[in-house]
Amino acid sequence: MKGVILAGGKGQRLYPLTKVTNKHLLPVGSEPMIFNPINQLISCGIKDILIVTSTEHMGDMVNLLGSGHDFSAQFTYKVQEDAKGIAHALLLAENFANGERICVILGDNIASHSIAPFTKEFLLQKEGAKVLLRKVSDPERYGIAALDERKIVEIQEKPEKPKSNYAVIGYYMYDEKVFDIIRKQKFSARGELEITSVNNAYVNDHMLTYGILKGDWTDAGTMDSFWRANQIMKKCGNRIK
Ligand code: DAU
Repeated sequence: MKGVILAGGKGQRLYPLTKVTNKHLLPVGSEPMIFNPINQLISCGIKDILIVTSTEHMGDMVNLLGSGHDFSAQFTYKVQEDAKGIAHALLLAENFANGERICVILGDNIASHSIAPFTKEFLLQKEGAKVLLRKVSDPERYGIAALDERKIVEIQEKPEKPKSNYAVIGYYMYDEKVFDIIRKQKFSARGELEITSVNNAYVNDHMLTYGILKGDWTDAGTMDSFWRANQIMKKCGNRIK
């Protein structure tokens, strides 16, 4: 399985911290934010990693991360010219994936514990996709899963009336069909190709499994959550358990 880290987007909710740099290069604890998703993939034994970021900040990203040698990994880079959504960024990974399964991490998702148990489960799954959930207190900020006893029946992106408190967080595992599925999606009202639409396509095919991530987790896209990400990384010394 190969790894993909999506680190594009505009980081508008963190302005002016992101006026001259990319959100994923900001410090959390003692390291740049993007180190956490990189270390997360490495904790799963995934060392072939694609990093997608915007044109403006690709130079800084490469200056920071280089070939991957310092992480005993191999990094490949792709530019997303316009921030047209998470699934739009993911489509850039098709040639890199080259028919293999992929584990995708949103570059602003920060966790203290490894997702390795879930990538192992996914590799035993014949086909389809797997997502990770967390209970949140502000469900209107996330993709929210409506659940029955055993499975996800629907995911709603930033719902006004959430059907649960379980957010689908930024760790996604996909089989090789994901790129054909993305191509079938339409841009949403906010002008993005939504990862939630892609995940719902797997739900409709009864091909989406889920796990619940343990330990500390947050996204870091707002000032409050960025602050929380710093607290989490300080607490665990930027190490993944
Ligand atoms: O953090 C989990 C949530 O992330 C999910 O629950 C939501 O379903 C999902 O849509 C997403 O919501 P956000 O509103 O937090 O997404 P945001 O636009 O902040 O993008 C998250 C990351 O994805 C960001 O750190 C960089 C990457 N990204 C985003 C966009 C829009 C890209 O690489 N390219 C893009 O065009």
